[in-house]
Amino acid sequence: MRLKKVFFEADDLLDDFATEVTRRKLVNKVGIFFSKSNPVLYNLKISHRLKAIRQNLDLIAKDKASLDLVERRQPLLLEPNSVQLNLDRETYSFVPDGEVIGRNADKKEIVDFLLDSEVEEHVVVISIVGLGGLGKTTLAQWVYNDEMVKVNFDKRLWVCVSDVFEVKMIAEKIVESAGGEKANYLQLNTVQNELTEMLDGKKYLLVLDDVWNENTLKWSKLKNMLIGGAKGSKILMTTRSDVVAEASGSVHEHKLGDFSEEEAWTLFEKMAFECNKESENSNLVEIGKEIVRKCGGVP
Ligand SMILES: Nc1ncnc2c1ncn2[C@@H]1O[C@H](COP(=O)(O)OP(=O)(O)O)[C@@H](O)[C@H]1O
Ligand SMILES: [Mg+2]
Repeated sequence: MRLKKVFFEADDLLDDFATEVTRRKLVNKVGIFFSKSNPVLYNLKISHRLKAIRQNLDLIAKDKASLDLVERRQPLLLEPNSVQLNLDRETYSFVPDGEVIGRNADKKEIVDFLLDSEVEEHVVVISIVGLGGLGKTTLAQWVYNDEMVKVNFDKRLWVCVSDVFEVKMIAEKIVESAGGEKANYLQLNTVQNELTEMLDGKKYLLVLDDVWNENTLKWSKLKNMLIGGAKGSKILMTTRSDVVAEASGSVHEHKLGDFSEEEAWTLFEKMAFECNKESENSNLVEIGKEIVRKCGGVP
């Protein structure tokens, strides 16, 4: 409400200003001097009004901070395309579609870390770091569905984080992922209780897919909510950024490398030619191989 008022004030001011500009142009053209409208006085008035607007905005910003409101990066009015985009980025925990190419060593290393129970901390974060499209989510899905991993953990939870890293919202998604009610808890405290009850003494694996949060305070808040599990519980996170991995306090950062040329080709072949057996056409194969070379091992 207050923001709206300030907005209208600013709009008014702009209107006034536009009128004044037109008036002055007119005065210049006609060459008449209106003694009533002193430009110096006008400028002073404008600057006072501007100052008042700025002060009001500052007050609102201050109140916002003290209320601990969370800014959402998602626009309120989503365009149809951006809705689609967000839906596309939503990931799930199923086994990756089709066969996973390469990545055996990566998988083994991550699984070893996940199975390691000689850890002191209550929550340990392991991160998979790499460019967008390199196969982080695929690898995480593969690891998540590994038989040894399944046996090792009492609970496995998958949360697609993407745009917004809001502790309460993630906590809600975790509860939901564990088969709890899909609920919008009114209080952080309530969802915390739910989470504590759910994780109580259980050895869990939580995947946080596609995380962007660099704020260490938010990380420690989230981790604090998750310390109720048994020793050996792990968080596996995928992210594009080293900074995010560091902010999360990862004990292991797994840098996902490029595919070898052969793997990249197999992947390309699978994607491009699977349906219509085009691969017999050597011309297309040549073009395909050229594309793969140019991509330098990134699918
Ligand atoms: N090792 C792989 N084997 C087969 N397909 C893969 C592999 N890695 C990635 N892909 C495919 O490449 C695309 C992007 O992978 P994804 O895991 O979503 O990347 P990221 O999470 O790093 O952005 C997906 O369509 C996925 O199926
Ligand atoms: Mg991903």
